[in-house]
Amino acid sequence: MKFKGQHILSTQQFDKEGLLSLFAEAKKMEKLVKSGKFGKEMEGKILATLFYEPSTRTRFSFEAAMLRLGGRVVSNADMMQTSSVRKLETLEDTGKVVSQIANVIAMRHPEAGSVKILAEQSDVPVINAGDGSNEHPTQALLDLYTIWKEFGKIDRLTIGMIGDLKNSRVQHSQFGLLKHFKVKFVLVSPKGLEMPSVILKEMGSAAKVVATPEEMVKEVDVISVSRIQKERFVSDREYKKFVGVFVVDAALMKKAKKHAIILQPLPRVEDIAVEVDTDPRARYFHQVGNGVAVRMALLKKVLNG
Ligand code: NCD
Repeated sequence: MKFKGQHILSTQQFDKEGLLSLFAEAKKMEKLVKSGKFGKEMEGKILATLFYEPSTRTRFSFEAAMLRLGGRVVSNADMMQTSSVRKLETLEDTGKVVSQIANVIAMRHPEAGSVKILAEQSDVPVINAGDGSNEHPTQALLDLYTIWKEFGKIDRLTIGMIGDLKNSRVQHSQFGLLKHFKVKFVLVSPKGLEMPSVILKEMGSAAKVVATPEEMVKEVDVISVSRIQKERFVSDREYKKFVGVFVVDAALMKKAKKHAIILQPLPRVEDIAVEVDTDPRARYFHQVGNGVAVRMALLKKVLNG
């Protein structure tokens, strides 16, 4: 696949070869971070981060990635309240404007498809940092990078997914990338929050849906957890029906494979018990560091090729 000059809007743009070349680059980027030195690859370049929805890790790690490569950053973490959106500027016009100022844009928005609308009017590459419950490609990239590093491969692994499979853009994007590998899926979610049928259909015979977390953990190499996505529910009452229904705790982990790893993009909200943090299989805090390296690799490939 071609990276240079491209918008990164969906996992559908990726192929296996592109993923593996990105992971190799991310490994090099980890070395650069560890050296404590700043690169020069992005010297003279500016990243704009436009966040219309809350974020901690994603925005910080995009910005840290640009800074680590010697670039600079302009940032708005609260576009809904403090940008010209308040004066009713359209996404299209914001795209035209910001692309005159920055060399690359990372954007998050609560509506599915919104990042694409802005990107279509932008003269510079736009990277989707999460659009509603649709996709979050860079999170999935760092999740797969974590798996690849841990196991030295992705083929022939069994991936468990637990949580809000209906609304988790992360798990949707994980599938978008994992489909390039020979993997199996074991899915478990509270009733009403099942994986969208289009994805289930595409998973086909590679997927098995089970009723309980116990049935899932005993079979899988990777346990991908998502929180119940509160902001996608019509009411608090509706949300509360689901939160805390399935919890990854020490008792559940007793039934899991010894070499399994637990991934969660974070934040967690009653979906992983704090007691699991000391379990050597927990990887959700390590993932964050991988996110900086993967975003460095992506910025390099998109801007410099
Ligand atoms: C995820 C997101 O925003 O979709 N968070 C993140 O980027 N690390 C997951 C979530 O909010 O549950």
